[in-house]
Amino acid sequence: MFLSPLAGYTNLPFRLTLREIGGLDLATTDLVNARSLLEKNSKAFKLIETCPADKPLAVQLFGSVPEEMRDAAQLLESMGIASVDINMGCPVRKVCKVGGGSAMMTELDRTADLVRGMVNAVKIPVTANMRLGWDDENHTAPDLARALEDVGVAAIFIHGRTREQGFSGTVNLRGIRAVVQAVRSIPVIGNGDVTTPEGAKMMFDETGCAGVSIGRGAFYNPWIFQNVRKFLVTGMLPAEPTFEERVRVMSRHFDLMIEVFGEEHGCRMFRKVGPWYSKRFGPANEFNKRVVRLASREEFSKMMEDYRQWRLQFLDEHGELKPSYRPPPMVSSFMMEPAAVSRQEIPVPRGPVELW
Ligand SMILES: Cc1cc2nc3c(=O)[nH]c(=O)nc-3n(C[C@H](O)[C@H](O)[C@H](O)COP(=O)(O)O)c2cc1C
Repeated sequence: MFLSPLAGYTNLPFRLTLREIGGLDLATTDLVNARSLLEKNSKAFKLIETCPADKPLAVQLFGSVPEEMRDAAQLLESMGIASVDINMGCPVRKVCKVGGGSAMMTELDRTADLVRGMVNAVKIPVTANMRLGWDDENHTAPDLARALEDVGVAAIFIHGRTREQGFSGTVNLRGIRAVVQAVRSIPVIGNGDVTTPEGAKMMFDETGCAGVSIGRGAFYNPWIFQNVRKFLVTGMLPAEPTFEERVRVMSRHFDLMIEVFGEEHGCRMFRKVGPWYSKRFGPANEFNKRVVRLASREEFSKMMEDYRQWRLQFLDEHGELKPSYRPPPMVSSFMMEPAAVSRQEIPVPRGPVELW
């Protein structure tokens, strides 16, 4: 079970929150520019900030200059990072324009050379993270995965969409399966729209993948890694976490944000995190309009106190949400009727990363 990189979100506080709940194997940082690391850029170093409880950790690099990618991998190895992941899936123009991200999927030989240089320079595993291809006419992932296996890549992470698809439409399980079948022996990790234990099981069953990587599903449901494990072993679906448990985990995430980023910056960063938790709270207007202006720890406590009071009107005599206010169950895109897919896409967080 893997955590997918989510630029702006998969920072140390989020990873620690997930690890404390359990079930997660390897977590990954946001993508980091190889050159910025070599230049000792402080923002790049903040992106790879870690601690002993945050292990094992992979760092995801992006870049297209072979020497820089190689040297950055060596630097990470010397810092005790468990593995290096290479970003080959990013569709953002800024990254593709300089030959990084999805653009790497269009130039097999060049990419294989770059990766060979990294693999030969370090002892830790080097993995590659890609989409199915540039567009539907060019599913290059199977060929690329095989070429990368030949130069020594340890595993492939594959998001079952093309660059052109962005985040719309269905995750293509057959496309992931084609990558699984293209490699000889390295593990292929399936990714995309896994938001429930049933979704994870279907991803395993239909693609033959060796692991599942989850990004946005971990926001809605930080228990997902543990729940997938339970479901795979017992076939039983664990109960939805209660509101109190959701608040406990969110509050822990908030505290860790402040610990790592300081009160002012931590609160500012939490403004975009809070609304993800609240998507599973039921009615949450009162929470959402306050959390996006959050500025201090004290405000957080007051906000939660007021929100609990406001939320009482939607509860029955047992303190449960009345049925009409309960959020609908989550369903992975590849488990839906085609017509429902566009109505129920998982929202993509707004902000500078909205093109991911
Ligand atoms: C806000 C956001 C940021 C992302 N940042 C990265 C990134 O830094 N590196 C990367 O390889 N993929 C990135 N992705 C893609 C995810 O890792 C993942 O492949 C995609 O979200 C599909 O998985 P999910 O449905 O489980 O979220 C990002 C996606 C989102 C929504």
